[in-house]
Amino acid sequence: MKCKITNTPLEPFMSFGKMPIANGFIDEKNFSKEFFFNMEVGFNEELSLFQLNDHPKPEEMFNKDYPFFTGSSEYMKNHFKNYANFTKKYLKTNSKIIEIGSNDGTFLKNFLDAENKILGIEPSKSVADVAIKNNIPTLNNFFNTSNIKTLNEFLGNTDLICASNVICHVPDLNNLIESVDLLLSKEGTFIFEEPYLGSMFEKISYDQIYDEHIFMFSASSVSKIFQRYNFHLIDSIPQVTHGGSMRYVLKRKKNESGKDLKKIFDYEKNKKLNKLDSCINFKKNCEISKEKIVEKIKFFKENGKSICGYAATSKSTTILNYCKIGTNYIDYICDTTKEKIGKFSPGMHIPIKDMNFFHNNMRDCVYLFAWNHKDEIFNKEKSFKGEWFSHVEL
Ligand code: TMP
Repeated sequence: MKCKITNTPLEPFMSFGKMPIANGFIDEKNFSKEFFFNMEVGFNEELSLFQLNDHPKPEEMFNKDYPFFTGSSEYMKNHFKNYANFTKKYLKTNSKIIEIGSNDGTFLKNFLDAENKILGIEPSKSVADVAIKNNIPTLNNFFNTSNIKTLNEFLGNTDLICASNVICHVPDLNNLIESVDLLLSKEGTFIFEEPYLGSMFEKISYDQIYDEHIFMFSASSVSKIFQRYNFHLIDSIPQVTHGGSMRYVLKRKKNESGKDLKKIFDYEKNKKLNKLDSCINFKKNCEISKEKIVEKIKFFKENGKSICGYAATSKSTTILNYCKIGTNYIDYICDTTKEKIGKFSPGMHIPIKDMNFFHNNMRDCVYLFAWNHKDEIFNKEKSFKGEWFSHVEL
């Protein structure tokens, strides 16, 4: 097995078994046609890169039905406002800004009042349409060298390219970096945020692994990958979003490294994030976590407790299918996304209900799948007096 980026060996070290598309919420009539793939992960020591061995085609995942809307979380809206403010030090008046995977335009909206020229590039029509309706210029297409070549006014002229929770979705990372290289001005800055390998290992939040997350990055891997294209990692800033992410800042010149970058590299060396050993240890931890959560759920049921799930996250697909948790344990999952409500969870086929249903049919115990939004959720669900639980510490 070869690494997607270098062709050097990829050591497969763990399989999560057969997985459906994480965001493939499904109608009952389509159960028999559901798509599954074998979800295995591997590690490439040359690039310190953790990746899926196999994954569905991007078109299977990011299409007109893609149901994830960034603006569905107040917390995320605020995060993107702060992120936009952070980028301002890299901008001039009239700078051109591109966001890769701009979703419903939640991030770019923050630049609408300034004199910058913005463009979102987003392959999923469902979310791109919302952005366009909100006056965010958006190209409804995949970000690659053939689709950007007509963007004449942006070529070699874009001061800032941003992305959030997107770069790890792109299988052809070489082409993505070539596209960034074509668009970015000489002094330009590329900033992206992704779930962080170090946080996933620490929290044993293996639900970060699903079809869309082809790569799980660290500062070491990002630095090594981009150096191949003469880009330098100049800063690496931990974020609390998505249960632990990292913001990476890259430039063509090396001379302005952020003060915390060395600290991050030291942490990664210390935790052996650049070694296969850390992955083997993670595998053991995942197996223990699976045993523990299944035991906990069985214990609830044996004691006559009813259970529902809260937030039909893409991450929940990994948990439910890996641990084989279905309607035998969980009666329903509530969610705010209208595109998911009335459908069933991918693979395990748990019904998805709206929030009114949750409030009128509260269960004794609630599996919080959106554990990364727990503060926001606990705050608005004070009327729930039962027990919240999850596979990560709440
Ligand atoms: P993800 O970002 O972890 O994939 O999941 C977001 C999902 O969680 C999305 O379907 C909306 C849902 N959600 C709720 O239902 N209620 C909430 O309060 C929050 C924050 C998210």
